Amino acid sequence: MYYLLLIISPLLVLDSNNFVDLATEVQLERFEQQVGFHLANFSGLRVRKFNRTTWILDGDTELFVDLSDEYQFSLTWAHSSLGNNQWNDYPMKISKSPMCAFLNGPYKEYQPYFIDNTNFPRIGEERVCPFPKGRYWVRNLAPAGVWIPEALAGGYWRFTGSVSDVNDEVLIKYLLFMRIKRELD
Ligand SMILES: *[C@@H]1O[C@H](CO)[C@@H](O)[C@H](O)[C@H]1NC(C)=O
Ligand SMILES: *[C@@H]1O[C@H](CO)[C@@H](O)[C@H](O)[C@H]1NC(C)=O
Repeated sequence: MYYLLLIISPLLVLDSNNFVDLATEVQLERFEQQVGFHLANFSGLRVRKFNRTTWILDGDTELFVDLSDEYQFSLTWAHSSLGNNQWNDYPMKISKSPMCAFLNGPYKEYQPYFIDNTNFPRIGEERVCPFPKGRYWVRNLAPAGVWIPEALAGGYWRFTGSVSDVNDEVLIKYLLFMRIKRELD
């Protein structure tokens, strides 16, 4: 789930001017874990409407295993302009990488945008490995502008976070659906 969070690739070189002003409405719609309930249980994590204009993620989760480098993480985006389940893969992504490279890389870089709203590991000077098993909570986590680069079109977006093994078999899969409304939409 963190997964969830980690929407930005080290491969992406976007300067901060390219991120949207949140006047653009980012409406979270649904979070769902699809597989891997023997490894993690994120079914308690839900999208809720916080007030008229803000949707948040909130809930309690549990990771049953330490995620070390025998696991890999990736995050991909897909777009649907009409919300009719015709998803087109988007070229930006966090490419599959060993869990601890992810944790000490993109996760660490983007933790300021979510770390105050969760007890997920806080990465400081020292390298952290593995991502430790445990109970994790998320409270009132609203999307930050950095989640949504300006390049992303209005419409429906699906973020897919996957944990796979070294043979590329997907073990855990999370989906986060959201709608981005731009002024001109
Ligand atoms: C998964 O989490 C949900 C919600 O927190 C809980 O109701 C359910 O019992 C949990 N399932 C397992 C297998 O831990
Ligand atoms: C909704 O909540 C967010 C986050 O606390 C806040 O920034 C925003 O001003 C609120 N909007 C309204 C209409 O109350």
